[in-house]
Amino acid sequence: MSSTRTLIRGGLVITAADETHADVLIEDGRIAALAAHGTAAADAWTADRTIDATGKYVIPGGVDAHTHMELPFGGTFASDTFETGTRAAAWGGTTTIVDFAVQTVGKALREGLDAWYAKADGVCAIDYAFHMILSDVNESTLKEMDLLVEEGITSFKLFMAYPGVFYSDDGQILRAMQRSSANGGLIMMHAENGIAIDVLVEQALARGETDPRYHGEVRKVLLEAEAAHRAIQLARVAGAPLYVVHVSAEEAVAELAAARDKGLNVFGETCPQYLFLSTDDLAEPDFEGAKYVCSTPLRPREHQAALWRGLRTNDLQVVSTDHCPFCFSGQKELGRGDFSKIPNGLPGVENRMDLLHQAVLDGHLTRRRWIETACATPARMFGLYPKKGTIAPGADADVVIYDPHAEQTLSAATHHMNVDYSAYEGKRVTGQVETVLSRGEVVIDRREFTGRAGHGVYTPRSTCQYLS
Ligand code: URP
Ligand code: ZN
Ligand code: ZN
Ligand code: ZN
Repeated sequence: MSSTRTLIRGGLVITAADETHADVLIEDGRIAALAAHGTAAADAWTADRTIDATGKYVIPGGVDAHTHMELPFGGTFASDTFETGTRAAAWGGTTTIVDFAVQTVGKALREGLDAWYAKADGVCAIDYAFHMILSDVNESTLKEMDLLVEEGITSFKLFMAYPGVFYSDDGQILRAMQRSSANGGLIMMHAENGIAIDVLVEQALARGETDPRYHGEVRKVLLEAEAAHRAIQLARVAGAPLYVVHVSAEEAVAELAAARDKGLNVFGETCPQYLFLSTDDLAEPDFEGAKYVCSTPLRPREHQAALWRGLRTNDLQVVSTDHCPFCFSGQKELGRGDFSKIPNGLPGVENRMDLLHQAVLDGHLTRRRWIETACATPARMFGLYPKKGTIAPGADADVVIYDPHAEQTLSAATHHMNVDYSAYEGKRVTGQVETVLSRGEVVIDRREFTGRAGHGVYTPRSTCQYLS
């Protein structure tokens, strides 16, 4: 932990609320003060280290509330460890991840959670926290939920998809929602009708439709919208707030918007892959489409406008990555000849801040909305604010110096994620992370990694701070 004073001078400080030319004083790992640039107050500050941010943005470190390091899926494991994945996150300007600990069917939450603490312990480059995946909702699971909320694991993911693996039926979902409405936890929902999807998978394979693009065809928009609708009604019955993860379909956004119009505490997340990629990628020949297999699936390009609109109107509040990388070679290839055996998930933890900055340049979001959806709101949604997600006195000094003019080409040849392809190979974007501080320590210094495995610490969370 640094006991030194660091000064970031001359940049444009952007938070969800403000854009100001301010100097930022950091002391003992936290933001000590901000003062308008060029004023006597700022000029009087001295520091051990001064970072010149002239012409750059000074933004809060990204908060990625949806990652899956080492997730077991389809007989293999997501290829980023906590060490490689958090280092890649730092390169991309993300300084906090919230990863999903997994309950195994028949086992206690405690056992799954302890396994996740062990995986992450001592190897992370940036700070981390956990959600808990409930794969087996029963009496003892429900009791354990209360203990987890007290321990700082304040959100629980349930799956309406993947029967036989993570799936919960409506009764289990209702019970978990009732429990969370009492203990303050937030239910995160994977909203896809997995029972119906499995029928369509079986029928497609029987017709010889085995290519990756059929993954997108069987996981229908209507089955995402139906599940979102059902989850919302169950949450209403339980009196619980609801956060729908990885929303990809226009019709699902409409369900969230309708619920929010009624004043309900219903929230939604989307991911860069749904904003920038489409079924065109999934249809790439020679099995290349497998690189784009994730669930919910990529949608026809027409859906993107509704997602951008949702982000602007606050019908969608958060952009997370759902980072869940599987190498093309040896992992995605498990599904050659049967799309249902392709491990689901895309790499992206390193790309999110840059892609959303490109969205600012493309006119989809304002700069402040970029920071709100990628830093401030995920921190508030999951009980990390204002320690994370903003630049304000008292906050952790998780700060990114961002060069809005640098040009880069996204590529597996230059990224730092432990995966052999990029979902955005060859995409040109303007804007690049230059320097990153995590609790005052410089972990990326002018595009050189200066951090270390083990700098990142586990960060317990309070309950959702976004309820109306
Ligand atoms: O395809 C995906 N999204 N893989 C990760 C697991 C999940 O459902 O989030
Ligand atoms: Zn200035
Ligand atoms: Zn999911
Ligand atoms: Zn996920």
